[in-house]
Amino acid sequence: MILRFLPILIITSLTACVKDSSKLTMIRRPYIQNVWADSASILWKTNIQTDKCHVMYGINQVNTDKVGKTFKNPDGTFTHTVTLNGLQQGQRYKYTVYNDNIMLDNSELNFIDAQRTDTSVGFNFLAFGDVGRNPYEDGFPQVTSSQILALPKHPDFITALGDIVYPLGESSKYDDYLFGPFAYTFSNIPFYPALGNHDWGVNPELNFCMEWKLPGNEHYYSYDYQNAHFITLDSKDGDFFDYAAQKTWLINDLQQAQGHYDWIIVSLHHPGRSCTYKSNEANVVALYPIFAQYNVDFVLNGHAHTYERLQPYDGNGNVLEQYRTDIHHYPDIPNGFISITAGGGGVLQPNWTPGDCAGDLTAVRYHKGHFMQFEIKGKKLTAKAYDVQSGLPFDEFEMQK
Ligand SMILES: [Fe+2]
Repeated sequence: MILRFLPILIITSLTACVKDSSKLTMIRRPYIQNVWADSASILWKTNIQTDKCHVMYGINQVNTDKVGKTFKNPDGTFTHTVTLNGLQQGQRYKYTVYNDNIMLDNSELNFIDAQRTDTSVGFNFLAFGDVGRNPYEDGFPQVTSSQILALPKHPDFITALGDIVYPLGESSKYDDYLFGPFAYTFSNIPFYPALGNHDWGVNPELNFCMEWKLPGNEHYYSYDYQNAHFITLDSKDGDFFDYAAQKTWLINDLQQAQGHYDWIIVSLHHPGRSCTYKSNEANVVALYPIFAQYNVDFVLNGHAHTYERLQPYDGNGNVLEQYRTDIHHYPDIPNGFISITAGGGGVLQPNWTPGDCAGDLTAVRYHKGHFMQFEIKGKKLTAKAYDVQSGLPFDEFEMQK
């Protein structure tokens, strides 16, 4: 439980990060976005506008200067964005952020790992949802962040499964509930969030979309890492943002991906069929035939604040019985996929115990705060679910194609 309170110190220290004798204050530490093999973006926030923002960066020495752009937020603060180009794949770049000639931040945890393109080397990513909850009440985003920093293998990115910031997704809560707790995580691990129902409590265009620099239209988008294709959807309140257009985009995206990747992974907030305390979402179930037809391997969701790994099922949501015998070692599953609820990234549903489930749908279920780590190396995928209190894995499985 000590871990639970550690990053609260980080939150409070951020607001006091004044450099030099000016009134310039960094109110959000740098965070990285859109990290590809040859480019990456670095963002941070200050209280006042300056003539220029820039980053010094390099592999061994931070000796290359890149100037960025600044925009004013609705609350009067300023976000600075610097995009680095011409990076070398697989290299680690250190960086230091400046406003004018004032160095604001040069932490050892400011670094970017440009994507590695060699599939024999592999990569790993994290997945969890329901994270930006008040750390002074029932939330524990700071515990999750601390355990991520303690992982033996540094994650290449995070796909986040919606309900990014409670209670309404408002920008005014982002620093206390998310960026503060993840201050030293987001400066070296890019975070690609899906929108959840709580992120739709206010207008996402004026809140969620102002906080991130994401691919596509920032509601639904896709990106690649090595031999894997990642898709993030916006399921809004279960009824989906612009459902018809999003579905058309999804089908087109999946059609273009066919034959080019060994792995296809979908992230969204709402479960389809599941055994949690949340309802099945018909609009997600309606996408199952598309996932099955176009070789999606995993569908990851949040919403229910618990962990539930389902049996592989087909495009109709029926369990594929032949995979029940070994729930820790899977071959390729043609025309089927594995759906996982990983909604305990920052809050756990109180006073609830996983119970029996119609159709014996679940392979594994645990009620504890968690995040998942997937490692892909060529045609082998290994996944672990970590308990955020102990820092130890409590579920593990692999798939070999
Ligand atoms: Fe939710």
